[in-house]
Amino acid sequence: MSLWKRTVYKSVCLSLALLVAITVFQRSLTPSQFLQEPPPASLSGLLVNPDSFWKSAKEVVTPTPVVSRRPQAWDVNTTNCSANVNLTHQPWFQGLEPHFQQFLLYRHCRYFPMLLNHPEKCSGDVYLLSIIAQHDRREAIRQTWGREQESAGRGRGAVRTLFLLGKASKPEEQSHYQQLLAYEDRIYGDILQWDFLDSFFNLTLKEIHFLKWLDIYCPDVRFVFKGDDDVFVNPTNLLEFLADRRPQEDLFVGDVLHHARPIRRKDSKYYIPGILYNQNSYPPYAGGGGFLMAGGLAQRLHHSCDTLELYPIDDVFLGMCLEVLGVRPMAHEGFKTFGISRNRNSRMNKEPCFFRSMLVVHKLLPTELMAMWELVHGNLTCSRKLQVL
Ligand SMILES: *[C@@H]1O[C@H](CO)[C@@H](O)[C@H](O)[C@H]1NC(C)=O
Ligand SMILES: *[C@@H]1O[C@H](CO)[C@@H](O)[C@H](O)[C@H]1NC(C)=O
Ligand SMILES: *[C@@H]1O[C@H](CO)[C@@H](O)[C@H](O)[C@H]1NC(C)=O
Ligand SMILES: *[C@@H]1O[C@H](CO)[C@@H](O)[C@H](O)[C@H]1NC(C)=O
Ligand SMILES: *[C@@H]1O[C@H](CO)[C@@H](O)[C@H](O)[C@H]1NC(C)=O
Repeated sequence: MSLWKRTVYKSVCLSLALLVAITVFQRSLTPSQFLQEPPPASLSGLLVNPDSFWKSAKEVVTPTPVVSRRPQAWDVNTTNCSANVNLTHQPWFQGLEPHFQQFLLYRHCRYFPMLLNHPEKCSGDVYLLSIIAQHDRREAIRQTWGREQESAGRGRGAVRTLFLLGKASKPEEQSHYQQLLAYEDRIYGDILQWDFLDSFFNLTLKEIHFLKWLDIYCPDVRFVFKGDDDVFVNPTNLLEFLADRRPQEDLFVGDVLHHARPIRRKDSKYYIPGILYNQNSYPPYAGGGGFLMAGGLAQRLHHSCDTLELYPIDDVFLGMCLEVLGVRPMAHEGFKTFGISRNRNSRMNKEPCFFRSMLVVHKLLPTELMAMWELVHGNLTCSRKLQVL
C-alpha cells in the first residue's frame, strides 16, 4: 500500500513538474515570436532559394542506406501463435519434463508485440547502453551503476540504461503487475516490455527481442553492456576499458567459457536433455551475468540469431549466434560472473579494493550492492594498485 501511494505521489509530482516546465517555456515566448513562425512546410518548399535548396533539405532529410530493410518501428502487433501440437504425438516428447514441453510447444513463436517502449532512449549520441534482463531489483541499480550520464567522458556520448521485461508469469498477477509497472515506467521511463511470459526459458526471447529492438531504434549505439540484476558493475572501469576500442570491432567480452558441457543432471537449473542438444560441448560463450559488445556486432548478431532455433539457455544461445558469425568471444579478467573467488566464504568477495579494480562481479543482493557501491566510491585506501585493466 505504501509503495502504491509513493508511486502515485511521485507521478503526480512529475506531472506537476512537467506542467511547470511547459508553462515556463510558453511564458518565455513573446507574442511576436509566435508570429514569426516559418510558413507551413508545403509553402516553404516552394519559397526556398534554388541555390540553397539542397543545403536546407539535407538538414531535414537524413539519408537512409538503400541496403537496409529494417522496419521503421516495432512491426509485430498481434500475438497469434498457437502451440505446435504436432509434437504431442511424439513418444520422446511425452517423456520430457513439463517446462521443456512448454518450451518446445512455443519454440517457433519468435516475436511478440511491445507493451512498453522507449524509442527516445536512443536519441542523440549514445555511447554505452546498459541493459538488464532480470525482472526485479531495479531500484538499487538505478541508484548505483545504472545511473545515466550525459557524457561518458573524453568527448564520448551518453550512457543510458534500460530494463527488459516480459509479462508476469502467473496469470492471476498479470493485471496488478502491469499497473504497477506502468506507474514505475511513467516515473523512470526506462522499461522495455514485450508480451511474453517472463520465465527462465524465455530469457532467450528477451535476447532476440532486444537485438531486434536495437536494430530498429538504436542502430548507432557505440557499445552495449548487458548485465544481470544481481551483479556489481564498475562503470568507470567499463568506460576506461572501452576508451581505446572501436564500435566497428568484433568486440564481445566477458567471463568466457570454453568447451562447457551441457548439464545432464536433472536436478540442475541448467539441465538439458539430450534430445535438445546432443553434442558434448557448447561453442564458447560469455556468462550471462555481464558482458560487453560493440554496437556493430550487436546488429549482426540480430541477423545471425534469426537463423537459429531458440535455445532455452540465453547466454549459450548467444554463443551459438556468435559461432554463426565466426566471432570468438574474448575473455577478460575483470569480469567475475562467478564471484571474485569461487569459494563463497572467501573474504575477497567482500573486499572493496577488489570490487574497485573489477568491471563486473557476481553476485550481490540489492542491500549488498548499495553498501559496496558506497564503499568503493568513498574514501578507500587500497594497499596496492590492482592491475586488471
Ligand atoms: C502495427 O501497428 C501500427 C500502428 O498501429 C501500424 O502502422 C503497422 O502497420 C502495424 N504493423 C503490422 C505488421 O500490422
Ligand atoms: C490467428 O491465427 C488463426 C489461425 O492460425 C487465424 O485464423 C487468424 O486469422 C489469425 N489472426 C490474426 C489477427 O492474425
Ligand atoms: C504441424 O504439422 C503439419 C503437417 O505436417 C505442418 O504443416 C505444420 O507446419 C506443423 N506445425 C508446426 C507448428 O510446425
Ligand atoms: C514464453 O512466452 C510465451 C508467450 O507468452 C509462452 O507461450 C511460453 O509458454 C513461454 N515459454 C516458456 C518456456 O515459459
Ligand atoms: C573523506 O575524507 C575526508 C578527509 O579525510 C573527510 O573530510 C570526508 O568526510 C571523507 N568522506 C567520506 C565519505 O568518508
